This record gives sequence, structure tokens and C-alpha cells, in this order.
Amino acid sequence: QELELKLEMLEKGGFDHFMLKEIFEQPRSIYDCMRGRIYPNEGKVQLGGVKEYVEKLKNVDRIIIVACGTSWHAGLVGEYLIEEYARIPVEVEYASEFRYRNPIISEKDIVIAISQSGETADTMAAIELAKEKGATIFGICNVVGSSIPRISHAGIYTHAGPEIGVASTKAFTAQVTALTLFAFYVAQQRGKITESQLITYLTELETIPSLVETALKSNELIKKIAEHFIDSRNCLFLGRGSGFPVALEGALKLKEISYIHAEGYPAAEMKHGPIALIDEEMPVIFIATKNSSYEKVISNIQEVKARKGVVIAIVTEGDITVKNMVDYSIEIPDTNEAFLPLIATIPLQLLSYHIAVMRGCNVDQPRNLAKSVTVE
Ligand code: G6P
Repeated sequence: QELELKLEMLEKGGFDHFMLKEIFEQPRSIYDCMRGRIYPNEGKVQLGGVKEYVEKLKNVDRIIIVACGTSWHAGLVGEYLIEEYARIPVEVEYASEFRYRNPIISEKDIVIAISQSGETADTMAAIELAKEKGATIFGICNVVGSSIPRISHAGIYTHAGPEIGVASTKAFTAQVTALTLFAFYVAQQRGKITESQLITYLTELETIPSLVETALKSNELIKKIAEHFIDSRNCLFLGRGSGFPVALEGALKLKEISYIHAEGYPAAEMKHGPIALIDEEMPVIFIATKNSSYEKVISNIQEVKARKGVVIAIVTEGDITVKNMVDYSIEIPDTNEAFLPLIATIPLQLLSYHIAVMRGCNVDQPRNLAKSVTVE
């Protein structure tokens, strides 16, 4: 037994938990996902796994993404990216809902299944159904040789490496990276982006692993902030644009591992319900980085502060405006809006992790949850 314990410690590479190790692996896993696929100097993206379907991608009228859990959140980020850059309409569906509602699918459609394990029962059933109706199926999966890649026509492996923590961290950012590559690849093929624009984007994308490294440096600060929230009973996560799926993922992480009730909302929807919950006991976490929705998020923060809510804001490095308005702020390095989810997710993972550890929860194996859900 002692040997087993030692072995486990070794596997954790000096970290207290697999989850923390996997959070810290993200500069590497994001890099591994991009490796050999982007050529910033030439303004080119190459995706060998879907190359055969390039004609289909040039002419497709819509893309449907199916997934569950964290992978579904990655799908929502993918929707923003594919619509913005490749200009193809995207629908993101919970696999479990999609499979049971007689969806309208034809051979013209491309259906993308996103799954870390490649084994999730609902996601498999959803693509089997779409395949029967003649759709082209792509898989974005982490586990090589798993079932979803095997039943898909084509796909992209995320190459994040094995993820042991039940709550997904590095697999999520790798999925988002793969979707980013896919959006730019399709944009390039459809002529929706110029070579020089691609050079600019890809040059910046290449720096993301080092920006993630920078974001991880806030770990100690986040740990201190976490101390204030160990007794919280509810928590709200708010963001706009691609910050909205980041908020959803932040809330899911917190509830999964700390058992604190948390909800993610588009910041503007706050006035249609969640605002009623705000009082001095309610922590509200904002994705308040300097991007196209910055000013609007600021007014949402003011609304929360006016009701005595406690605000934690994820802000762009050097931003003092938001810092002065809120109770706690965590800086992340500035980046193009396209890549915001990859960076803004990091502090939220760390925040959930520290809160859960301080509450004495089993962060690697939360109660009632499974790493891979192979039953309905
Ligand atoms: C389970 C896991 C989640 C995961 C979801 C989808 O609920 O606990 O972390 O996001 O399944 O899994 P998949 O392997 O399809 O991404």
C-alpha cells in the first residue's frame, strides 16, 4: 500500500492532486494540440484529419455540434469562432436532447462530436443517428482510438494527454484550441480570411501557451482569494460573447468539485432573474477583460455592486478601472478576443480548485461523478 501511495505521488508529479497537475500542464497541452498544424509565417493552418472533406467544408450550409458537460461548453466557444471567422451557421446541442427529438438532419450537414473520452453514450448515440441520416461526422476527441473517432468520418485529436481528474481542465482548453484551428482552417479554405490576417492571428495563437503560463502565476493570489469563499452557498459567473461559455464552464467546475451551487449566465441576462439573488453574501465572478463588451460588462458590475454583491473580476493586465470597482481582481495577459477563452478559463479552474480543497472535498474524484459516462 505504501508503494501504491508513492507511485501515485510520482504520477502527480509533485502536485497535491491530478487536477492541479493538469491545470499546470495546459501550456504544454495547448502547444501539443497546435503542433504541426499551424504555420504562422506562411499564414496557414493544416488539419490532416479533415483534409479529405475540404470540398464539403467549402460548401456546407451549417454545422451542428453535439456534446455533453464541459465538452458542450467547448462547443459553445466553437460556435463563436466558426461563425465569426468561417462564417458558417453553427448550432450547439446537448447530445442527450438532440438524439431524442427527431432532429432535422440531411447529407448536407456536418455534425461535430466533441468528447474528451470518446466514449460518452449520449454523444455516441447522437452521431449514430446523424450518420444514419447521411450527415458527415467529425470527432474532436482526446482519447486516441476511442469509440467516437472510430465511428466518425474524420476528426481532430486534441492531444492533451491523459486526463485523470474527473473535472475536465486541460482537455477543455485543448478542445477549444482544436476548434480555434478548425475555425481558421475553414475560414482559410472558404476565403473568408486573408493570408495576412491569418499571419497575424496565428502568430498570436502561437504565443498562447506562454500567456497561459503567465496566467498560472496568479495561483498564490487566487488561493488567497479562495479563502474568502469557502463558506459561500451560491455563486454566479457572468460573461458576454465568448466570455459566456467561459462563465458556464467556471460555474460547472465550482459545482462539480466544491458542491457550491453555481450558475453561469450571459451578463446581460442577469436583469432577467439572477439579479434577484444578489446580496452581500453572493459572490459574482465577472469575465471583465478589455474586449468588445468591456463597457457593457462594467455597467453590469455596477449593478451588482449597487446591490452589495461581492465581485471577483477577471481583468486584463494593467486595467485599473475594473480593479477599483470590485472586491477582488485577477489579471490575465491581454490577447486577441478570439483567444480569450483559452486564457480566462485558467483563473476560474484555479479558483474552483482552491475553494474545493479548502472545503475538504475530493477534487480528483468528486462524489457522484464519473470521468466517462458510458451509460444513458
Ligand atoms: C462527464 C465528465 C465531464 C465531461 C462529460 C463529457 O460528465 O465528468 O468532465 O465533460 O462527462 O465527457 P466527454 O468524455 O464526452 O467529454
